[in-house]
Amino acid sequence: MSGQGPQSPRGLFITFEGGDGSGKSTQASALAERLRAAGREVLLTREPGGTEVGLEIRELVLHHTGDIASRAEALLYAADRAHHIATVVRPALDAGTIVVQDRYLDSSVAYQGVGRALGAAEIRELSLWASENLLPDLTVLLDIDETEARQRIDAAHKRFDRLEAQGSEFHATVRTAFLALAEVERDRFLVVDAAASADQLAVEIGDRVDELIRARQAR
Ligand code: TYD
Repeated sequence: MSGQGPQSPRGLFITFEGGDGSGKSTQASALAERLRAAGREVLLTREPGGTEVGLEIRELVLHHTGDIASRAEALLYAADRAHHIATVVRPALDAGTIVVQDRYLDSSVAYQGVGRALGAAEIRELSLWASENLLPDLTVLLDIDETEARQRIDAAHKRFDRLEAQGSEFHATVRTAFLALAEVERDRFLVVDAAASADQLAVEIGDRVDELIRARQAR
């Protein structure tokens, strides 16, 4: 299904993953700031909702109050991804920009593939088809205990979210799925303990990204 995708882009593609309430959005912003302060061209973006069409899909997939069949949910995330990667992310990477993205295909594999039991391999293939085989250079996984995450979400009093509203068993499954993905692709993943302070995490993540940039330049 995946076939041969376009040439590898020139920029760096860094994604943030983790359960709801893991603080990944804060860390994605902190990394973007840090890189910009060092004079680098950075695009900070997210899925779902990194484009105009994507914002409409996000509204539907996250906030629709009626039922959405699991396969339809998976396809909505894939549709958002296909449009976002083709129209925003790839052009930026081709121009040499560092793309820092809040959630990507590992979220689909963990939430839809494992959480919704649609099959990890099938959902990964679907995402790779949607993105024409774009894999991140680095994926930061903010690992968080599900009970701790729930407390953070409740404290934030956010709007109703279909995925967040799932029970604790679902979120525990998603956490295990993320960790298993990181175990399989150790080179791509940096797993950090989301319970650490935001400053500490920013340093740990920033150091790894600097390392990646140096390795790239040395090639
Ligand atoms: P996000 O915008 O990161 O919300 P939060 O900051 O509250 O974590 O993600 C929205 C939700 O969408 C989140 O519950 C995870 C879910 N999601 C999937 O189920 N599959 C996907 O492919 C993506 C990208 C997100």
